[in-house]
Amino acid sequence: MKPLALGILGSGKGSNCRAILESIRAGTLSAEARVVISDVLNAPILEIAREFSVPNAYLPPGQFRTRLEPSAEAQLVQMLRDAKVELVVLAGFMRVLKAPMLEAFRRRIINIHPSLLPKFPGLEAWKQALAAGETIAGCTVHFVDEKIDHGDIVARHEVPILPNDSAESLHARIQIAEHALYPAVIARLSLEIDRAA
Ligand code: GRF
Repeated sequence: MKPLALGILGSGKGSNCRAILESIRAGTLSAEARVVISDVLNAPILEIAREFSVPNAYLPPGQFRTRLEPSAEAQLVQMLRDAKVELVVLAGFMRVLKAPMLEAFRRRIINIHPSLLPKFPGLEAWKQALAAGETIAGCTVHFVDEKIDHGDIVARHEVPILPNDSAESLHARIQIAEHALYPAVIARLSLEIDRAA
């Protein structure tokens, strides 16, 4: 089967994008990153794309803070279609996707979140887990729907919360788990999703 065509969206440092691109390069993930798109000018994730010679673009998000302006979201759909993307991978993308994207890529958009969903959706989920006195944290890959950090769960990876953990040490442990989980889940989906259409 031909490699799964990915479009990766992110707003920040791009460590999950790097993990995915490294897995592709290592041959452990049969996928091809067709494009990396960021709503943040000069985001490190775009630099990572260039490092791996992946086409990349800044998408001006428009006037809103938490979502894309409708014209920008329509443009995003077009960019992903032009690149013949089969699976949209959110890797730290800080905008809520709306109907144009959700309808164009129904059950073809996944996100990774730093908690064991459905626990602790939202920002800085590892801090929420610490504050709640949890002993286990982790990360979740889920299909994206219209709600934030919601949608069918594809896979989760647990990590322990240790007695002396700080927010930073716990977040670092969760990110290590993310970097293993996300490429593995994409590999699994490449076998499972219907790519005939
Ligand atoms: C990850 O922790 C992910 O769970 C969350 O955003 C963060 C992105 O990190 N959705 P990075 O940009 O991949 O380093």
